[in-house]
Amino acid sequence: MIKFRNLSIIFVYTCLSLCFQLISTVGFDDGTNRHHRSPRTVTLRTKPEKTLQSRPGAPFKIALFADLHFGENAWSDWGPRQDVNSIRVMSNVLGYETPDFVVYLGDVITANNIGVANASLYWDQAISPTRARGIPWATVFGNHDDAPFEWPIEWFSPPGIPQVRCPLANSSCPGEEECSFRGTSRLELMKNEIKHNVLSHSSSGPKELWPSVSNYVLQLSSSEDPHSPVAFFYILDSGGGSYPEVISSAQVEWFNSTTQKINPDSSVPEIIFWHIPSQAYKRVAPFFGIHKPCVGSINKERVAPQQAETGIMKLLVERPSVKAVFVGHNHGLDWCCPYSQLWLCFARHTGYGGYGGWAKGSRILEITQRPFSIKSWIRMEDGHVHSEVILTP
Ligand SMILES: *[C@@H]1O[C@H](CO)[C@@H](O)[C@H](O)[C@H]1NC(C)=O
Ligand SMILES: *[C@@H]1O[C@H](CO)[C@@H](O)[C@H](O)[C@H]1NC(C)=O
Ligand SMILES: *[C@@H]1O[C@H](CO)[C@@H](O)[C@H](O)[C@H]1NC(C)=O
Repeated sequence: MIKFRNLSIIFVYTCLSLCFQLISTVGFDDGTNRHHRSPRTVTLRTKPEKTLQSRPGAPFKIALFADLHFGENAWSDWGPRQDVNSIRVMSNVLGYETPDFVVYLGDVITANNIGVANASLYWDQAISPTRARGIPWATVFGNHDDAPFEWPIEWFSPPGIPQVRCPLANSSCPGEEECSFRGTSRLELMKNEIKHNVLSHSSSGPKELWPSVSNYVLQLSSSEDPHSPVAFFYILDSGGGSYPEVISSAQVEWFNSTTQKINPDSSVPEIIFWHIPSQAYKRVAPFFGIHKPCVGSINKERVAPQQAETGIMKLLVERPSVKAVFVGHNHGLDWCCPYSQLWLCFARHTGYGGYGGWAKGSRILEITQRPFSIKSWIRMEDGHVHSEVILTP
């Protein structure tokens, strides 16, 4: 083992210099072997053409699109109308902010409403406003994206089950020709997204973390030097739908080993994105309204946290480089509150799908390189801006 460790250190050094030239989507694909110590198991799935880079002299701006819930009640007029409304919210936000990147923060679709295996078509509609403007994006799964189909009670009334129109053979879901009510898995959704979109920075993550799929890290590079990291974005799948709502011990281990490899001295800032708030959010949640140091505009429901905490928060608070966590899930919450050295933030409900009649909008992050800072605010559908907060000391 000692020999391996030495080898590993040598490898890490070689890798650090090499990797920084290569990393953009750093999916450490060591799926064939769970032991990270052996140098040969670490291969980088690199897509250098997909490096995120700030524009010279400009901060890097990210829009979070949370809880769009496309594909609800497709059998009624109401459902498709909500999707049109959600497209309008995204288009307005993209128009006002012109972000450099978009993170789709889970619950892109409501799979429990989608009666044929064509969820990728709804997924595709949800990413279309971003794609149409040539803006790159990344997606993370929420608890509804692969939830099992639930038969609507309306289908058992006199009008009965609506005629099911199945996707065409050469639609964006090959192999999904025949009708079924089995839904579309996380892996299929991700595969279809990646295959058809050069602007997608999403990844299915290391195999050993499955059924948890959207686990990957992206590097934001400096405008002067594409090899020099300004920040790392960690995208983690917080479960739900086809398996429990949790960040597993295996994901914690993966996060730990990945940070040790690519940012061992914690010198590069790290920003975390997942869908379902961790239990720590409950601890910082403001009572009755929102008071300093928390910043936000709606505090209308209780935090609905993950089912268990298996150690991710402990790791995050031990890393001075971790600046903030961003989640969706609770449509009636949009605050940011400090927790130890970092911030726990909700996005803002972006979609007309899903519960809650609160006005729709998008949380924006603005990352400045020197000195490093993260500013955030919420941009509403009607253009109004509020809840500005600086998330760095
Ligand atoms: C499948 O998706 C297409 C495109 O969004 C839609 O037109 C069609 O109605 C969907 N089929 C069903 C049964 O929902
Ligand atoms: C397949 O796609 C082509 C071009 O996209 C289209 O012209 C054609 O009608 C499609 N075929 C079927 C069976 O839908
Ligand atoms: C993280 O990795 C370090 C170094 O390999 C190790 O000492 C530590 O125990 C790990 N922590 C967890 C929670 O896995």
